[in-house]
Amino acid sequence: MSEKLWAGRFTQPTDAFVEEFTASIQFDQRLYRYDIEGSTVHARMLAKQQVISDGDAAEIVAGLNEILAEIERGEFAFSISREDIHMNIEARLIEKIGAVGGKLHTARSRNDQVALDIRLYLRDEVDSIVTALGKLREALLQQAEANLDVIMPGYTHLQTAQPILFAHHMLAYVEMLSRDTGRLHDLRKRLNIMPLGAGALAGTTFPIDREWVAEQLGFDGVTRNSLDSVSDRDFAIEFCSFSSLLMMHLSRLSEELILWSSADFAFVDLSDAFCTGSSIMPQKKNPDVPELVRGKTGRVYGNLISLLTLMKSLPLAYNKDMQEDKEPLFDTIDTVRGSLKVFAEMIAEMTINPERMRAAAGRGYSTATDIADYLVRKGLPFRNAHEVVGKTVRYCVETGKDIPDLTLDEFRQFSSDIEADIFDFVTLEASVNARKATGGTAREAVEREISLARKA
Ligand code: ARG
Repeated sequence: MSEKLWAGRFTQPTDAFVEEFTASIQFDQRLYRYDIEGSTVHARMLAKQQVISDGDAAEIVAGLNEILAEIERGEFAFSISREDIHMNIEARLIEKIGAVGGKLHTARSRNDQVALDIRLYLRDEVDSIVTALGKLREALLQQAEANLDVIMPGYTHLQTAQPILFAHHMLAYVEMLSRDTGRLHDLRKRLNIMPLGAGALAGTTFPIDREWVAEQLGFDGVTRNSLDSVSDRDFAIEFCSFSSLLMMHLSRLSEELILWSSADFAFVDLSDAFCTGSSIMPQKKNPDVPELVRGKTGRVYGNLISLLTLMKSLPLAYNKDMQEDKEPLFDTIDTVRGSLKVFAEMIAEMTINPERMRAAAGRGYSTATDIADYLVRKGLPFRNAHEVVGKTVRYCVETGKDIPDLTLDEFRQFSSDIEADIFDFVTLEASVNARKATGGTAREAVEREISLARKA
């Protein structure tokens, strides 16, 4: 028998380079477990529907189990001439159990088979990424809880704006990752629909039971149109879209960690385990991990664009182009998994430098808005208050003083509404703790959000 399961209508062998060029076994072998799982349930369904005998199904299932074990022991010889994971396994099955193995592909096509395999595989990966995201959220929450008293500068335009709690900053990332987790749960609903039974494109002439297969494989339902079943890759694109947003969030956090761990900021210290040295400058400790994650964001965006472009002009239904869906998807999964794993550990081990953060928060007149708010409460319109404080800041700049260092007389040069209680409003703590409304940086507001995030 020819190596090719489709050799019947051909008179000449495939060109050796074309064989390699068109094969996908080099990368789709990672689907083996799902391919075998799908085939096992398919064979059982064929027997249940009396399309094949119970004995044939039992032989097929036993053969598939042996193949699974061969692959897991590393003894399976994947072959380019057998093109892809589906035909590698089927050809090996026929080799092992003889002609009865050829009955497995009844009422099925590689087109619906591959659609099934990718969905099963991606579903598992989605579930493990939900867990990995949970670990990173946990690490961020722990940093927030452990450092509830730490005040740092909040920035706009990367210029000191207002003092905030470091915990508040950590919680901003918890929010982003919560939305990412929500996106994953949402895409999983559309992913977890069973496509097998579409056949090559039009359905099958055999009396199959798709709902039973779906139930056995843990799907929530079956696809409703055979053409769409074999030509849909929305789930892969949705996953890459989720991944792009997630990586964008990790990249922003990376950027901050890179800045914060520089000698000029020195807000945080990343553990040595996540940094590397320089081959020429002995003093260097480089934040390689966040830099790499920031860099890897680009390839994930690229994978999303690859898939969108791959699909945009394909006529229904399956086209060989679609074999190109796998590498971008697999690369995205690997990149996201790796980035989440390394980030969760790095955040958990990060130490922070409260004195440096506090000193920076005190620079840059970060409590100026609090004086303006103070004057507004004394009845001044906000615009006038803004002007009074602007002059006060200019005076500080000219005299080299900081806002809390001013005497009452100095304050009162700019407005007689300012009284001795002003000093209760211009400290970093007062500024932070005045922002109590939901979502604000006051300690009590942050504590409320921490406990909500814990419950979530
Ligand atoms: N290796 C193929 C892929 O990944 C499987 C489906 C092949 N179908 C076909 N009609 N050639 O897309």
